[in-house]
Amino acid sequence: MNTSIFSPIEIGNITLTNRIVMAPMTRSRSVGEDIITPLAVEYYGQRASAGLIITEGSPISKIGRGYSFTPGIYAKEQIKGWKAVTEEVHRKGGKIFIQLWHVGRRSHHSIAGEQPIGPSGIKEADKVWGPLGNGEYGMIETDVPREMTIEDIKNTQKDFVQAAKNAIEAGFDGVELHGAHGYLLDSFLRSYSNTRIDEYGGSTENRMRMVLETVKAVAKAIGSDKTAIRLSPFVAEGAAEHDQELIPLSLKLVEKLNDLGLAYLHFSENISNFKEVTDEYRKKVRSIYQYPIMVAGKLTQIKAQELLDTDLVDLVAFGQPFITNPDLVERFKNNWELTPVDYANHATFYGGGKEGYTDYKKYQ
Ligand SMILES: Cc1cc2nc3c(=O)[nH]c(=O)nc-3n(C[C@H](O)[C@H](O)[C@H](O)COP(=O)(O)O)c2cc1C
Repeated sequence: MNTSIFSPIEIGNITLTNRIVMAPMTRSRSVGEDIITPLAVEYYGQRASAGLIITEGSPISKIGRGYSFTPGIYAKEQIKGWKAVTEEVHRKGGKIFIQLWHVGRRSHHSIAGEQPIGPSGIKEADKVWGPLGNGEYGMIETDVPREMTIEDIKNTQKDFVQAAKNAIEAGFDGVELHGAHGYLLDSFLRSYSNTRIDEYGGSTENRMRMVLETVKAVAKAIGSDKTAIRLSPFVAEGAAEHDQELIPLSLKLVEKLNDLGLAYLHFSENISNFKEVTDEYRKKVRSIYQYPIMVAGKLTQIKAQELLDTDLVDLVAFGQPFITNPDLVERFKNNWELTPVDYANHATFYGGGKEGYTDYKKYQ
């Protein structure tokens, strides 16, 4: 029998009431010392009927920040802020993972607080959202990163572990490591951003080392059932060219991740510069990976159900539709019209207050 997007599923030791996931989305509204805004309690609470919410990327350290106003998970007040969010989502019967984020080289010293770091001293051809120097905010060029020393690598892994522990203290059901979109973990996998000649660069085995060591360390600290990772081998975010080696490398990585028994494995398939994911790839992943598989990227209800029907994925994540439809699950269930994504008002995606954030209504 085919699996419905509305059917429950177990991930780790929890049961999700449906397979419709809210994808991680940065909303750039933190207050004070990168503390989640109190408005986020309402925002995430409004969306608690999702089978699972994955929060916006949450920096694990000061140097892990790459955009202004992103709420962190490395300081006491930040943990307190998130606690109110998890309590509200749980009160409404939902489940919530936090996305642990280190942007690596996709930053600027005015945001990271110092020169950003990466696997190698190679600049990302990219701009990030930060201070323009005139009191205003806008897009600024990334810096050339400092090549990480082995000590930096070990310290960063410790930061991930501490952030994961903080997340559990804040009441999250689990954590998703951001291993996608050219940010730190992903940049170790890719040959154009990683030209190291030590044990963290060069061979496939070496380029996977940072990701695997970090996931293992986090899983050991909080439990593999509460640990997940997001990857994007078909996305060439920030780089003009696709890394030809990345897809075969990702399959080896999936094989290694399978040994860890994570809560789920999440593929971000379709943002900006991407290649279409093939059925052949999905089949390979399914044959080597025995735990829940999640996909995201420009899904519609129909496309999501079709994907579940192939039996090659288990969970379907929606990003922008959840911005404009807090009750997305109910709308899907009842065939109610969706509020379209307001591209003209795209500015409210990032920054500001409740406009474009908590003021989208349930279906009436
Ligand atoms: C406003 C916005 C912020 C995003 N922030 C993140 C993020 O913090 N972490 C991440 O992994 N992906 C992020 N994404 C990508 C989404 O998780 C998702 O993969 C993407 O939007 C495609 O899904 P959709 O077509 O359903 O929106 C963001 C997308 C949007 C629109």
